[in-house]
Amino acid sequence: MRRKIVAGNWKMNKNLSETTVLLEDLKKQEFKDEAVEVIVTPPFTNLSLAVTTLKDSKINVAAQNMHQNANGAFTGEISADMLKNTGVETVILGHSERRAYFGENDALLAEKVDTALKNNMEIIFCFGEELEDRKGGKHFEVVESQLKNGIFHVNDENWKHIVLAYEPVWAIGTGETASPEQAQEMHAFIRKTIKETFGENTAASVSILYGGSVKPANASEIFAKPDVDGGLIGGAALDAGNFSAIANSF
Ligand code: PGA
Repeated sequence: MRRKIVAGNWKMNKNLSETTVLLEDLKKQEFKDEAVEVIVTPPFTNLSLAVTTLKDSKINVAAQNMHQNANGAFTGEISADMLKNTGVETVILGHSERRAYFGENDALLAEKVDTALKNNMEIIFCFGEELEDRKGGKHFEVVESQLKNGIFHVNDENWKHIVLAYEPVWAIGTGETASPEQAQEMHAFIRKTIKETFGENTAASVSILYGGSVKPANASEIFAKPDVDGGLIGGAALDAGNFSAIANSF
């Protein structure tokens, strides 16, 4: 079913003490709309604390990344089983920073998608064009290819466990947001592309989040667009007040 979701991507921010403070702050916030799913993604070292602290709250905890293999000699990596055993059921895959700085390509992401699904995890799958792509009028083409090569190998049933996050790279951490019209235009294109391969029902039921400099001041305009089901929030998720204001922006 299509859900409204606001997920905070903490990236490499907040040590253990800072995480404790932010989690306590988040617990004090009022999340007004029961129907909005709220997710936070602290760094790996603080996931266990987050799961314990948020146990009786409405906030869910997700991971920012995961390795594609089950276990073994992969120094520094974290497996699906490790996440699940910590109480984490959701993972972000394909964030543009993973793609740009850690060489994650579509083929690798397709493997990670399979691993997550095999482990009955929920996926927030990220993708989006770079500034040059948009300037060159290639943004639709780039997004279509990221989807087709990274996640369209899944079956109809799998879509229940997948949330998409369109994040134009030029809008991430730059303060420059896609206009609500630009977001809507791309989200409608994404839904049409899903429909062409998986049919109307699947297309209508997938949640598609927008990410890239979402803040309390622009969230409601973006979330009001018919094909935008929420947001993946970076910088503004590091402040409990801003984050809850965004979650209350529907
Ligand atoms: P931002 O990051 O909100 O700081 O632009 C969004 C993201 O990278 O998910």
